[in-house]
Parts: sequence; C-alpha cells; structure tokens
Amino acid sequence: MQVFTKPTQNEIKMAAKSLRDGNLVAFPTETVYGLGADAVNEKAVSRVYSAKGRPIDHPLIVHISSVENLGKWAIDIPDYATKLANEFWPGPMTLILKKSELAQEFITGGQLSIGLRIPNQQVALKLLEEFEGLGGLGVAAPSANRFGSISPTTASAVEIELSSFLGSEDLILDGGQCMIGVESSIIDCTKATPVVLRPGAVSVEMIESATGFGVLLNSIKSDTKASGLLETHYAPKAQVTLGMRTEPGDGFLAFADIPTPIGTVRLASPKNNEEYAQVLYSALRLGDQFGLKHIVVVEPTGEGLALAIRDRLHKAASGKTRRREALDLQP
Ligand code: TXA
Ligand code: MG
Repeated sequence: MQVFTKPTQNEIKMAAKSLRDGNLVAFPTETVYGLGADAVNEKAVSRVYSAKGRPIDHPLIVHISSVENLGKWAIDIPDYATKLANEFWPGPMTLILKKSELAQEFITGGQLSIGLRIPNQQVALKLLEEFEGLGGLGVAAPSANRFGSISPTTASAVEIELSSFLGSEDLILDGGQCMIGVESSIIDCTKATPVVLRPGAVSVEMIESATGFGVLLNSIKSDTKASGLLETHYAPKAQVTLGMRTEPGDGFLAFADIPTPIGTVRLASPKNNEEYAQVLYSALRLGDQFGLKHIVVVEPTGEGLALAIRDRLHKAASGKTRRREALDLQP
C-alpha cells in the first residue's frame, strides 16, 4: 500500500487508473475517508468487504461526479429526490433510490435500492472525474474503517485501521483532515416522502425546506438496512459514557466553555457544533491511543448537526454499561 500526500493531478490520475485496474483507493471526502473500489467490479468490491470485515449484506454507497450519472444507477427517481440532489450535491448527503440493472447484488447487499452520493471535496471529485474519464461508472466507498469502528477523518487514521488489510497495489490519498467529520446524511427516497436513515450535516430542517415534505427520522418501519443503524457502531475501544460524571483518569470531551474535571484527560474542546463534528472521531481515537478505559462526553443540544453528533455518540456509547446508571444503583 502506498500513500500519496497532497496528491498531484498526476497522482490522482494514477489512482483512478489503479481503481479501474481493480485495486482499492482510500480517499478523502468532506465527511470521512472512504475506501473506494470500482462499483461494477465484483472482485474489487469483495476486497472492500474483506478489508473492512463487513458483512456482505450491508450495501455500499456509490460515489459519482455529477447529477447526470444519477440516471445510470437509479430508476423511478421521485421529484423530491431530484430537488435534494440539485440543492445539496456535491455535498454530505446520500440518496437511497430504486436501483437500475447496473447496480448489482454485490453492491446493494441484495436489496432493490442503491445509495448514491456526490462528495464535495476536491481530491474526491478529481478522482471521480478521472475515473469516469477512463470509462468508470461509479466508485463504491464505505467509510475506510474496520466494521463497527470509528470512521477515519485523516489519512493516518485510515492507515491505523486498514494498513494490514490492504495489498501492495492499493493506495491511500491523503487530502488532509475532513471538513465535516461525520458521515453523510442518508435519505431514503424510495417512499412517498423522505425518510432520514442517518442524520448528518444536511439536516432534517434543510431537507424539509428543500422538499416541502415533513421528514421521518430513522423510521423503524423502514425495511432497508444501514449498518449505521445497528445499536453499537462508530465505537472506540474505550467505554463511552454520556453525561458529566467523571473519575480521575477518564477522557473528557465537551464544549470549550465546560471546564475539565480534575484528573481527567481533555480530548477536545470544540467551540460550536461544526467544530464538534470535525473533532469528534479524532478525539475518540486519541482516547484509544492514550489507552484510556473510559471517555466521558458532554453532548451538544439542539437540532441540525447536533442531532448527527448525538446519533453517533449514542451509538458509540450503546451496548456497554453506563457508569452513571451503575453508580446510581449503589446505595
Ligand atoms: O459520508 C459518507 O457517507 C461516507 C463517505 C465515504 O462517503 N461513507 C459511508 O459509507 O459512511 P458506509 O458504508 O460506512 O455507510 C453507509 C451506510 C451503511 O450503513 C449502509 O448500510 C447504508 O449506508 N446504505 C448503503 N446503501 C444503502 C441502501 N441501499 N439502503 C439502505 N442503507 C444503505
Ligand atoms: Mg461506515
């Protein structure tokens, strides 16, 4: 595996060629780093699943460079989805649409829908353009982490996650830190009205004002499968506890105006929701690098991006004993 730091146009061209040859290329997007494969190459896509250790029935998002390519991958696109695409692409939004024949089972996890996204990041867009220039139709890319772990927001985090699972021909494009820091909003557009399967930087309020529809959030009735909807996901090795109850030696993550409790290790001090999202995963990773057992996190309140941050934090914390509850049980 080779790393191209601040890749030149020529290196991005080489990466596009490598993708077309069936190799894997990890690349930056504005949300998190993705692990890319040619979306019509079954062998390359199966290598993505094995590098991630991801169950094969969890579908991948196909990344394209322009709205013109949407019709290749999706059919019966509702008007409200077209509105969303025109309004928010390139951007941190994935649309789930009825799939065309091009979208084969090995991409969709056997489902009849396909996830599509145009990322808003220069390296990613150039890579996709070069790839399409070589006859490519789309790049399948899940977040470039092992299954269940935290998405990487830097190239070095990709290396930590995946270097032992990538081959000598595979590449990592290092485009610096991701601007947004949490994964794209996933919007199921296979129903009469939009359903948010994963909240992100394109907020419920933004979707409602672009489409004129009320938006359902993480509908339990949804029959689609998103691994981001599993109870425990986006989790560091440390136990994440929400609230303010700390013990000496804990990691601590909260807004800058909340003082660091005595004896804890401050992992980040974001000043607003945008900064919070941007540093969230690197702060949790730092806790693991320090070998901390617990990380106590004070969540942001409110709507918009705060909802996406809380969603990830709840998943990082769930399925594990919450110290607060455990302590509250004691006399
Ligand atoms: O921001 C992002 O979306 C990043 C960057 C790399 O684009 N990608 C990403 O991919 O987060 P991934 O695979 O880690 O998460 C995508 C989620 C998964 O939970 C997957 O199951 C779900 O989207 N998904 C993909 N296709 C779907 C479909 N047809 N129906 C329902 N869920 C789908
Ligand atoms: Mg993921």
